[in-house]
Amino acid sequence: MAKIVVHITGSVAAFKAVTVVRLLQKQHHQVRVVMTKAATQLVGPATLASLTHYPVLTDLWKPAAAGQIPHIGLADWADYSIVVPASADVIAKLALGIADDPVTTTLLATPTPIVIVPAMNTHMYHQAATQRNLAQLRQDGKIILDPVHGQLAEGYTGDGRMPEPATIANFLNDLMASETTLANKTVLVSLGGTVAPIDPVRFIGNRSSGKMGWAIAKAALQMGAHVIVVAGRISINLPAENDRLTIKRVQTTQEMYEALAKEFPKSDILVMAAAVADFQVSSYTDQKIKKHSADQTLDLHLKPAVDILKTLGAQKSHQIVVGFAAETQAVLQNAQQKLAAKHADMIVANDVSGQQTGFNVDDNQVTLLRKDQAPETWPLTSKTAIGQRLMNVISKMME
Ligand code: CTP
Repeated sequence: MAKIVVHITGSVAAFKAVTVVRLLQKQHHQVRVVMTKAATQLVGPATLASLTHYPVLTDLWKPAAAGQIPHIGLADWADYSIVVPASADVIAKLALGIADDPVTTTLLATPTPIVIVPAMNTHMYHQAATQRNLAQLRQDGKIILDPVHGQLAEGYTGDGRMPEPATIANFLNDLMASETTLANKTVLVSLGGTVAPIDPVRFIGNRSSGKMGWAIAKAALQMGAHVIVVAGRISINLPAENDRLTIKRVQTTQEMYEALAKEFPKSDILVMAAAVADFQVSSYTDQKIKKHSADQTLDLHLKPAVDILKTLGAQKSHQIVVGFAAETQAVLQNAQQKLAAKHADMIVANDVSGQQTGFNVDDNQVTLLRKDQAPETWPLTSKTAIGQRLMNVISKMME
């Protein structure tokens, strides 16, 4: 039984929120409701107050009992919050951190998981602004239950229709169940790219953004794990650390190795999502290398860097060790070799030769390789979804 705050905003699907509240109550959850002004035009607060036996927060300025700040009280009370339906307007405000109504103000003060269920006109949903805001919310760790394709209130079909109340309630229950799957487990995730410094201003780097690794770290956090992220160079923003998230920043392969090797013995899972530089410059120049003439050439000699996965894979005791294989050709064959050579329990192979998958994009298409199992290919989907599926597979491997 959990304490759930249901936030209702101004979308025609608001009436369905009443059924969501009923279903959650039937599943023995305690429910309280917050509504925007627009939502109160679509469904009556009195209905929700009588269902929940609790006043509905519709106005931040209504006098409260002495010493009470109702929105903070609700934010602290919530084990989970769900915005159902979430209008384009509220999604935009949440993405920016605006707090100017009971819903956005309460949610900005809420430290526990927030599920967002968008419901709107199909053109509004596909607007670049809405998609950008949803991507930002995903990046911020909010959980989005995507709308479905179907009949819209406008009389035509399209994306943007809210899933049925039973689907929403089941989604929330599955989420709550999954949140303890990795309780008391430590998941070590490397992400981003490591670099080979040449001189104080230059380095050899790679295109890794850190998106795939962060999707995995986020999924592990959602499953209740303590997550240690070792991040090389990335092009995404990582959130602040908290009591279950530790972030270490590194630059070189050697630094990444040392950071991971320190944490590996006490970890239960290692996922090497980082694009690790295989070479380092043999003689780092500690002053900026100068160009003396227009036709000058420069030879750089590279020496091997440590193979982190192979080294830690060989040391594993109880840990599940997962690597990636970024390939541009003979993907499965190369990945299969890495599975054995690196002592990994699983290799996630991805083709990085195309524009659609691989480095610095939001989607990916992967094939899982495990010892004594046929390769398993997943369809092209978001890195967030792959992160969640991967962590599910890995947690099952632990059993
Ligand atoms: N990896 C590592 N240390 C390295 C190189 C790679 O730990 N020095 C890890 C990566 O994080 C990834 C896996 O090994 O999980 C495979 O990385 P990939 O770059 O695909 O392969 P390499 O081992 O570098 O081999 P190649 O570059 O020849 O494909």
